[in-house]
Amino acid sequence: MILPIYLYGQQVLRKEAEEVPKDYPQLKELVANMFETMYHADGVGLAAPQVGLSLRLFVVDGNVMADDFPECKGFKRAMINPSIIKCSEDEILLEEGCLSLPGIHEKVSRPAKIRIKYMDENLVEHEEDIEGFSARIVQHEYEHLEGHIFIDNISAIRKQLNKGKLNNIIKGTTNCSYKTKAVGK
Ligand code: CO
Repeated sequence: MILPIYLYGQQVLRKEAEEVPKDYPQLKELVANMFETMYHADGVGLAAPQVGLSLRLFVVDGNVMADDFPECKGFKRAMINPSIIKCSEDEILLEEGCLSLPGIHEKVSRPAKIRIKYMDENLVEHEEDIEGFSARIVQHEYEHLEGHIFIDNISAIRKQLNKGKLNNIIKGTTNCSYKTKAVGK
């Protein structure tokens, strides 16, 4: 089932998300719905707050990026209650976008490598080293669980330049190919 994606301005995107309880009802169904919603919107990652649920859970699939970023080949994961336990000191600056911020693309600097602990949709625990664009996708989604959004990381000037677009997103007047929930609509 395709879920509406909550847009910038929605309070749920600003809350620190709660741990997913082990007995969370229909967890697999939620994960399946989040993958379906992400693919429908041509995204490579989607976090639960973006579908209105303040839960520490996100899905990623970097396969469509594999031509440019070979490390993304086969990188499809659901990460439940993740925690980033290590970040490399070296950072990479690359452009990002977000399904909750349609039409906005900005360069963000992030650690090149991370180590992360998480549970998959079967509640099996994993610890994984991730690098390159896959690490970027994971860090972007992880940030959503902390109530942060990627444009929090850009300069005041760049934010100012995006002000008009951000206001349109809040008003709900941005054109979008997928189902959304804007504050103003
Ligand atoms: Co995002």
